[in-house]
Amino acid sequence: MSHTEPAALVVLVSGSGTNLQALLDACADPAYGARVVAVGADRHGIEGLARAERAGVPTFALQVKDFDSREEWDAALAGAVAAYDPDIIVSAGFMKLLGSTFLALYGGKVVNTHPALSPSFPGMRGPADALAYGVKVTGATLFVVDPGIDTGPIVAQAAVEVVDGDTEETLHERIKVAERTMLVDSVGRMAREGFVVEGRRVRFGGLVD
Ligand code: GAR
Repeated sequence: MSHTEPAALVVLVSGSGTNLQALLDACADPAYGARVVAVGADRHGIEGLARAERAGVPTFALQVKDFDSREEWDAALAGAVAAYDPDIIVSAGFMKLLGSTFLALYGGKVVNTHPALSPSFPGMRGPADALAYGVKVTGATLFVVDPGIDTGPIVAQAAVEVVDGDTEETLHERIKVAERTMLVDSVGRMAREGFVVEGRRVRFGGLVD
């Protein structure tokens, strides 16, 4: 990655892809400093892949059930991503844990966005779990992926109030508005400035000309 050309992003999705769309829209401005070179998924027929196709971005989809083991799927996913030689991989609503082969190749370059304020409410049900617990503030967290479940070093967080009458859906939709802004701001800074992980702490910077 250098200052002279935009950072290459591979984005991984499993669903509607609104976070992907926010990145695609941001990348339309050359000053953003990044471009989406491919979008990968763990399933076919999702709006996230359709968004990529409409934007003219190459896609690939690898389903776990088409492989003999989770490890083989993970290695195939790593291979599919490697074909695009990304600087940063963004897991944006990708509902699978990345395995040891993938992280051996790309550890430190993969970020994931999660709809809760880590370390609270890891896993697949961040908004529902926050609502059930009764917290008054929740939000979204962007972190550098490690082998745990939503445990990696934190790049950015955005806080969102829980309001009376919230359902899982209304709360998640409000989180996603804040999440998209956080994601676009942070990935842009990572692309333009670089980023350094020191233990649990992440800071922007360190990109040399
Ligand atoms: C996002 O809120 C993301 O944080 C969440 O799925 C949503 C995807 O929305 N991811 C997880 O819950 C992963 N644990 P999108 O497909 O519209 O970008």
